[in-house]
Amino acid sequence: MLKKLKILMVSPECVPFAKTGGLGDCVASLSLHLAKLGHDVRIAMPLYTEIALPKSTIANPEPMIVNLGYGTEYAKLWEHRNENLITYFIEFNRYFGRDGIYSGCYGDHCDNPERFAFMCRSALDLCYFKNWLPDLIHCHDWTTGLIPVYLCTTERNLPLGRTGSVFTIHNIQHHGLAPKSILKFSGIPDHVFRPDGVEAVGMVNMMKAGIYFSKKLTTVSHCYSKEIQTPNFGFGLENVLKFKAGDLIGICNGIDISNWNPETDRLIPANYSAGNMTGKLACKRELQKTFGLEQNDAIPIFCVVSRLAEQKGLDLLANILHRVINHMAVQFVVLGNGEFWLESRLSELASIYNSKIGTFIGFDEKLSHLVLAGSDLLVIPSRFEPCGLTQMYAMRYGTLPLAHSTGGLSDTIENYDKSTNAGTGFLFSNLSHDALYNTLGWACATYYDDKINFNAMRYRAMQKDFSWKCSAEKYIEVYHWAMEI
Ligand code: ADP
Ligand code: GLC
Repeated sequence: MLKKLKILMVSPECVPFAKTGGLGDCVASLSLHLAKLGHDVRIAMPLYTEIALPKSTIANPEPMIVNLGYGTEYAKLWEHRNENLITYFIEFNRYFGRDGIYSGCYGDHCDNPERFAFMCRSALDLCYFKNWLPDLIHCHDWTTGLIPVYLCTTERNLPLGRTGSVFTIHNIQHHGLAPKSILKFSGIPDHVFRPDGVEAVGMVNMMKAGIYFSKKLTTVSHCYSKEIQTPNFGFGLENVLKFKAGDLIGICNGIDISNWNPETDRLIPANYSAGNMTGKLACKRELQKTFGLEQNDAIPIFCVVSRLAEQKGLDLLANILHRVINHMAVQFVVLGNGEFWLESRLSELASIYNSKIGTFIGFDEKLSHLVLAGSDLLVIPSRFEPCGLTQMYAMRYGTLPLAHSTGGLSDTIENYDKSTNAGTGFLFSNLSHDALYNTLGWACATYYDDKINFNAMRYRAMQKDFSWKCSAEKYIEVYHWAMEI
């Protein structure tokens, strides 16, 4: 029996407090699962302006010293306990007292490197301050990349020098590039500024820093762990990843199956299960009403719930929507926000075909439940997808994913095979307008002409086990490996 661990999660996002995408869901649900297994799990994250501290938060924050390279700063530390899980919020208004986690109305915050270097240093300082030394620190993406560097340099001969580190790559596209001066700011010695350290193209690359200095590396699906070692997916870090391949493990994300459960979900108008799907029809009707679409039980609804970013390939969908609407009897519902031109393009299409296409531009957690419950299919033409959570949520709600076979999408969706009556969705392998169009046609034909198989597929999708059970066990194993080094 492996010993119970003291684990510190450091992340810029964690639901229900802060979320821009799957990272926030993943950190929260993994932490909760590990805590339920009896591990002492604590999360450290910034206190952004948007966060309304829950009533159960310990009333008074504690002033805490943060030791940066240029001197000390005072942050306020808030503590919140929920189901054996402690969340520490770091309040420091110069960096976090403004709108947006990473960006505001003028684009990305230009001091993001300093903001998240500050988060990294304060996460370590809070361990000393609380006199709680974790066995392991689990870091997530570039914003946490300096933590493994601290552990190997400034902390080496201090108590945290014995703490293991695991660095999870959720998305290799975002590197966190900063001038060399970020090292002085952070109090990290200059000697790490070298190609086999934190340096890339004359800058500090915080993603590379995490990759180089962590004891073990994971990414969020097996397929993506292979893809990022190739030039097409590695965003210039493929050689670093090949070099560290022996320490890199793909572990597929799980989902919070109690929050995303059509049988009990309070955010949808009617509940349902694989054995009794009548409630799904009520959700469909409500969805059509909410988005001003023609009320029609028989027509398939394809939906999108996504960041509107280049990664997601939704520009391809926007380009073929005219053709689709003119040739197939379908409806589309889009819930998303992101790139302005794509928001405008999708809204324009919705105004042209207002009974067939509905859009909501914005981020709305409650609405995402209705969209996934009321639709028949979810479209995910991602150029790359490290894991993807929406396809797993959709399958639980009997909404079949239609996706580009890449990364976690190909690991979690089984392609429909009529001859063997197998599959949980519709996959295509070469991303192009025609491939997407043809797959939409295939799904549409299956919906209308092969209802029995379509419903059987729904049933199989709803039975899939996407809980954290297996993946959390793998993480615990990786934590132990990271502590042994
Ligand atoms: P990524 O992290 O790349 O954005 P994932 O599929 O892993 O992709 O996670 C996306 C998460 O964000 C899901 O929980 C999805 O429901 C949610 N989401 C994305 N866009 C929106 C939106 N506009 N409103 C509400 N939820 C959204
Ligand atoms: C990233 C990825 C997404 C993944 C999520 C959680 O945002 O883009 O594919 O599901 O992280 O790991």
